[in-house]
Amino acid sequence: MTTTSSTTASSILPSELEDLVALFDVRGTDDPTPDADREAALQAPKFGTVFSDHMARITWRQADGWLDRRIEKYGPLQLDPAAAVLHYAQEIFEGMKAYRHDDGSVWTFRPEANAARFARSAHRLALPALSIDDFVGSVAALVRTDVDWVPSGEDSSLYLRPFMFASETFLGVRPAAEVEYLVIASPVGPYFAGGVRPVSIWVDEDYHRSGPGGTGDAKCGGNYAASLLPQLLAQEKGCDQVCFLDATTNTHLEELGGMNVFVVMADGSVHTPELTGSILEGVTRSSILQLVGDRGRDVVERRIPLAEIVQGLADGTVREIFACGTAAVVTPVGRLAGSTFDHAVAGGEPGELTMDIRHELTDVQYGRAADRHGWMRRLA
Ligand code: COI
Repeated sequence: MTTTSSTTASSILPSELEDLVALFDVRGTDDPTPDADREAALQAPKFGTVFSDHMARITWRQADGWLDRRIEKYGPLQLDPAAAVLHYAQEIFEGMKAYRHDDGSVWTFRPEANAARFARSAHRLALPALSIDDFVGSVAALVRTDVDWVPSGEDSSLYLRPFMFASETFLGVRPAAEVEYLVIASPVGPYFAGGVRPVSIWVDEDYHRSGPGGTGDAKCGGNYAASLLPQLLAQEKGCDQVCFLDATTNTHLEELGGMNVFVVMADGSVHTPELTGSILEGVTRSSILQLVGDRGRDVVERRIPLAEIVQGLADGTVREIFACGTAAVVTPVGRLAGSTFDHAVAGGEPGELTMDIRHELTDVQYGRAADRHGWMRRLA
């Protein structure tokens, strides 16, 4: 099990990538989506509803290790009703994107960081470790096979979803001896309906997505399942997203249902909840910390009391709030509400620094700006 932090995972060289991709046997579909249908699907895809023609797959058996690296036709999986994942939720996933640059080439962002986090999530969920090489190789092999599915255009990309689950037919409670790893791909536009616009956040004081020693820093489906009811309640309060507080004191900001959160102060400093073990170590989060620091601003990872932010919105010391993640990129927050407060953020408009950081990050991802930190990997 690797202990590499997502911010320090070492990079794979282009020449090494060729060898990793070659390990995958491409069993192409004999029924590809017609060009015209694919082009139509790429026009304005709703997040996570359209999928490319193929998927990457590797099978794990306790006795044999990882077997049968392949690219196969996208389609339903055959799963026994007693498959362990359906009962005990032994499952993890990642979120990444492939970006088409103006010259037609296709790139991804910091894949080794996602691979390292996937290995940490696997360790926490008692799943087998997949090597960084197999993780990156599978993503590259799928994107090369389905390269025509990578959209071009502002805010469009091919969203990549690597995941791993316990496939063993067994109802006893122990780590599964049979596991499947797959990568699927979905052309996407902006995550939130209505495009890039300020979203409203409800701060939940009744539910938590994770507690000390729990699975909060692992990217496992269970964390997201736990966020669904509070998310529904937030929507009933008229908000787009829920924000969770820490489970110990119920007073400090943690994260949203599937995004990290940042606060911009009037003195120019930028703050985000520190990694306590119950917060996901976002790849976008760590990249933003770097980009904000590059601007000479103070970046502070700390425990952030909700009361301080509520007061700061009232007295003007809090200027902007934004959410971030692979899917959400950098999304401005225009309103923060809870049981005892309801404040506009940045007058309900996209914050200036928020949008600057969003553009700086996406300019690197779409090849419009120099990749000063060596974050981009060419896939095709
Ligand atoms: C991502 O940002 O890629 C995620 O996995 C979060 C999910 C809300 C889509």
